[in-house]
Parts: sequence; structure tokens; C-alpha cells
Amino acid sequence: MKQVVTTRNGGVEVLEVQTAPDPKAGPGEVVINVRAAGLNFADILARQGLYPDGPKKPCVMGYEVAGEIQNLGEGVNRDLLGKPVVAMTRFRGQAEKVAVRANQVFEKPEALSFEQAAAIPVNYLTAYALLVVMGGLRKEESVLIHNAGGGVGLAALDIARDIGARTYGTASPGKHQFLRNRGLDYPIDYRNQDWLPILKRLTNGRGVELVIDPIGGSHWKKSYAALRTTGRLGMFGVSTASANGLKGKLKLVKAALQMPRFHPLGLLNRNRGVFGLNLGHMWHEPEKVAEWVQALMVGVSEGWIRPHVDKVFPFAEAGQAHSYLESRKNIGKVVLVP
Ligand SMILES: NC(=O)c1ccc[n+]([C@@H]2O[C@H](COP(=O)([O-])OP(=O)(O)OC[C@H]3O[C@@H](n4cnc5c(N)ncnc54)[C@H](OP(=O)(O)O)[C@@H]3O)[C@@H](O)[C@H]2O)c1
Repeated sequence: MKQVVTTRNGGVEVLEVQTAPDPKAGPGEVVINVRAAGLNFADILARQGLYPDGPKKPCVMGYEVAGEIQNLGEGVNRDLLGKPVVAMTRFRGQAEKVAVRANQVFEKPEALSFEQAAAIPVNYLTAYALLVVMGGLRKEESVLIHNAGGGVGLAALDIARDIGARTYGTASPGKHQFLRNRGLDYPIDYRNQDWLPILKRLTNGRGVELVIDPIGGSHWKKSYAALRTTGRLGMFGVSTASANGLKGKLKLVKAALQMPRFHPLGLLNRNRGVFGLNLGHMWHEPEKVAEWVQALMVGVSEGWIRPHVDKVFPFAEAGQAHSYLESRKNIGKVVLVP
């Protein structure tokens, strides 16, 4: 089978399509014939050598796939054979075939193409955990979604709208019209101006009840300053560090040094909460994740979960796919196909 290999740390030139023996389904596993694999910002950071959770290189990245079940391991329900599914994969998803534990596999909704289905797991589970599970976002509250035009950003917008919250979102200005059409109430250009005074003006100086921030470093301080009383800050990424080579390492160190330190008394006296999320550290909690997936699948059937696939790249163009995300061109999801 073909697979996209990150051969070493570096620029997009380190990505190669290589062949490898087909995987076998171990006990409790299935092998999926991959029709579409999601690309995530974590794949970029891993290629740049800035992602501590990534596998040792050379490696095959890929946290999510959609496809059909081709083989079953011992102890797996025989009815699954041939079923169209969507799955979370602990790497190796960007390949023609992948072996995965059966409890990480979910039925693909018929209404979605394989590409759309592959756009669901990482983006929507992350957004669901941030907004619903940990952020406790309520109707009539307001939420600031950073990088609202990205994969997680659009997913968060779908969920916030279903909750009935007021939505503010930072994004490159070229994405604002699209975001308005998707229902974002207040797009904010954060590339050419300081977003915090604008948000304060839009909220009559009060701020918002929830901010979700994947940028990291000193940006988390600024997002904390955007909170209203009873506000919560969800921190879930350090995209500010993204760069190749030494520059990326230095940016990561800078981000670590500039991170805020939250004092319990400060939180207590200001009625604020802070939390972090790493979906990649949820593998030991499959029941929780399965419950979130069920809620999202209800959203698909009701029509308020709308995975938006911006561009589909064949494996051979994985480098272009990475560049597309890195150069901030994407609106929503980028998907790889064999
Ligand atoms: N902790 C978790 O469990 C978890 C799970 C999923 C994702 N994440 C994090 O969430 C973030 C978004 O992930 P995603 O996969 O949905 O990607 P994405 O948002 O689609 O990523 C690309 C977008 O991010 C924005 N961006 C901000 N800073 C950037 C930078 N330094 N370089 C390039 N683009 C930058 C750009 O949009 P604009 O400039 O238009 O805003 C760009 O279009 C990433 O930081 C990722 O690591 C964390």
C-alpha cells in the first residue's frame, strides 16, 4: 500500500509517498481501506519537529480517516465487514490502509461523502470538548473563536450556533465573507489590527464568556483579558510556534516563556476559569469520546454539523496540502486522498 511518510524534520520536501506492506488486524482491531484522511495542524507541527506527541521519524501521520472496513481481527463483530466508517487513528491514517481499534470506529453518516466524514473527528471532537464539555457554553452567552476560518474554528462555529450563543471570531480578512455566510455574528481581522480593543468595543467593554485559543504563548494572556465575569479560557494549541528549523524551536521557547501563570486567588476573585485540552491524550477514555461522537452524529442528521472541505489533495501532493495550511489559505478542512 501507499503511505505519506514524514521522513525527517524539515520543510515540505521531507514528505514522501512510499510503499509498505498492508497492515494486519490484530485482536480487537479492524483494517480500514482509506478513502480520505484528514490533515491537521498537528501534522505540520510534527513535520517541523515541534510536536512532542508525534511518533519517531520516519513516520506516517494522520489522526482520522473515512473508508470501508476491509478486514476484522479476532473478537470484532463480523457485521462490520465492508461497512463505511469514520475513525480516529493514533497516527498512520495518511495511508491506503490502516489498522485501528474497533472502539475508535464509527458508522459513516450516509449523507456525508468520505471527504466530509474525514473532516469530522479531530475538528469537531476538539470543538465539542472545548465548547460543550469543558467550556460549558450556554444559550445567550458569547464566545470568541480564534482562527474561526480554520478546521476547528468552523466546527466551533457550528456548535456555538446550535447552542444559541453570540459568536465572535478572529480570522484573516479574506475569510470574513465566508464566515458571515456560515453565521458568524462578528468577524474580527486580527492580522492587521489589535483584536482586543475591537472585541471590547463590540461587547460594550464587558468581554465574552468563553474564548478558545489555539495560538498560545503571550496570546493566552490577551485572551484571558477578553473574559467577562464568569468567563472561561480554553487553551488548546501553540500555532504561534509554527516555523521550520531553528526558527520554530526558538519560537516554541519564546511561547513557553511568555505563557501566563494563573494564580488561584486571581481566578477566585475575578470569577474566571481556565482549562486546557489535548484530544491526543484521550485514547484511554474511549467511552467519553464515543459519547461525544454520538452527539455530533445527531448534529449531522439534524443538519447543524456541516463539515466544510476546502480542498482535497492526492497523497502525491501532500507537500502542497501542508503549504496550503501553513500559508493560511485554508477555509475549513484540508483532506488527503490515496
Ligand atoms: N489540543 C487539541 O486537542 C487540538 C486538536 C485540534 C487542533 N488543535 C490546534 O488547533 C489549531 C487549529 O488546528 P486546525 O487543524 O483546525 O488548523 P486550521 O485552523 O485549519 O489551521 C490553519 C489556520 O490557522 C490560522 N493560523 C494561526 N496562526 C497560524 C500560523 N502561525 N501559521 C499558519 N496558520 C496559522 C490560519 O488562519 P487565519 O490566519 O485566517 O486565522 C490558518 O488558515 C492548531 O493550533 C492545532 O494544533 C489542537
